[in-house]
Amino acid sequence: PEGTFTDRWTLQEALQLPADTEKTAQTTMPLITSWPQGAQKTLPDQWVWDTWPLKTEDMQIATVRAADGTPYYVLIHLSVDDSVLPGARHDLATLRYSYSTDGRSWQPGGYLFPEGVVLGSRNWAGSALLKADGSVEVYYTATGERDEGPVQGPSSVLERQQVGDVQGPLTADGQLVPQSGSGFPNEGGIGFEQRIALADGVKAEVVNGRVVFSGTWKHRVILRADGTLYQTVAQSDAGPLYGFRDPWAFRNPADGKRYVLFTGNMGGLKSQQTCQPEDLGDAAFRAGLGALNAEMPLHNGAIGLAVETAPGAWKLLNPLLTARCVNQELERPHLVMKDGQVYLFFSSHIGKFAPYGDLRDRGEEGLYGFVGDSLRGDYTPLNRGGLVLNTPLTQRYQSYSYDVLPGGLTTLFVDVPGIGNQDISVVSTLPPEEQRAVFGGTLGKTLKIDISGGSTALVSELNYGQIIP
Ligand code: FRU
Repeated sequence: PEGTFTDRWTLQEALQLPADTEKTAQTTMPLITSWPQGAQKTLPDQWVWDTWPLKTEDMQIATVRAADGTPYYVLIHLSVDDSVLPGARHDLATLRYSYSTDGRSWQPGGYLFPEGVVLGSRNWAGSALLKADGSVEVYYTATGERDEGPVQGPSSVLERQQVGDVQGPLTADGQLVPQSGSGFPNEGGIGFEQRIALADGVKAEVVNGRVVFSGTWKHRVILRADGTLYQTVAQSDAGPLYGFRDPWAFRNPADGKRYVLFTGNMGGLKSQQTCQPEDLGDAAFRAGLGALNAEMPLHNGAIGLAVETAPGAWKLLNPLLTARCVNQELERPHLVMKDGQVYLFFSSHIGKFAPYGDLRDRGEEGLYGFVGDSLRGDYTPLNRGGLVLNTPLTQRYQSYSYDVLPGGLTTLFVDVPGIGNQDISVVSTLPPEEQRAVFGGTLGKTLKIDISGGSTALVSELNYGQIIP
């Protein structure tokens, strides 16, 4: 029944991901040999990675109309000044936007939130909706806590508590009572807690050939991990990095309700989780399964789901898909509806697969997908194991963070093509200038995939950052 069903990416299914020798042109992306530099980048002087277009609630690409009727498209980017070392960008990520009249040549619009980072100490991926009256809703991840790091905007804890960003007891002078940390090894020692936030209160307009957001953004936290359905950062006491992020908002045509998909982990203390028979596969497969290892249950990725129960009120539901004992991080989940089917896509990394047999070798810095006959349907992995796009085997870390748009155009960013076939860990050993030189930090060439029934095929490559055919 709605809200209770939990579908799984089982070990049995995931082991059908193709091995290197089985990867074909159906999923293998073209080699990135060069990429835009300097002023040619998506945003000059900025690194850009996760990116999403302004959409309608019905999952279509939105246009903001100028007075003369000219349509403008909008992209929102995670961004940071390109003097920052690529590996440090997550600690400083800020939202910027760009706009375009043809959906392929992008003009920088500046900060999305001119008042700076209001919730968290940095902002991670999300989605954005343009409503029929021109008003805009931006769903994003507020990461980090309190006044650590580069927080700008309202900075008193009291003020931030009013918008739901910080919880917990306050001292008499309005400071948070220090809590013991999660013990999690964070980059730079800053907080890794993530909340799902919503900013609204503005309208998108075209003024003198520029898209602007007029009005004052109002920010609030709409969803936090509850510890039962979704893991809290404190429960993530073992294994790889934790997530409660990447909200993707839409209206489900089947019931007219508004939902948010997100990246999460299954609730409960991670070190106490075990693999369940149904995480593994059917009885015949389980009977022939070799011994499981202790690291497998530390992988418990989930695609989270929440529903709007009344205007502005959101409720967590059971995950749409879980990957316990298979994969830790199902990032940037999103949907495409086609031929009456629901296609569910997400990105994941090589190193986020559980180390069972050659499963981790089968995983890629890729785009993965499932198909079901309804939002809560029984999801089947596309192309058997779930792999939709993989990077070339000689350059595994060349791109990431895929976004499949209606019609199959798929955006991505150029990650680290410059390390060739070396492991990602090599990057941090390079001198700073080389770290910047091997990184793209700009949108790559959009790919077009054909989606049909239970399979997909890569058909062509378009321009950098192109979102309109
Ligand atoms: C994917 C991702 C997202 C997250 C962001 C942080 O590239 O890991 O899940 O929101 O990057 O920078």
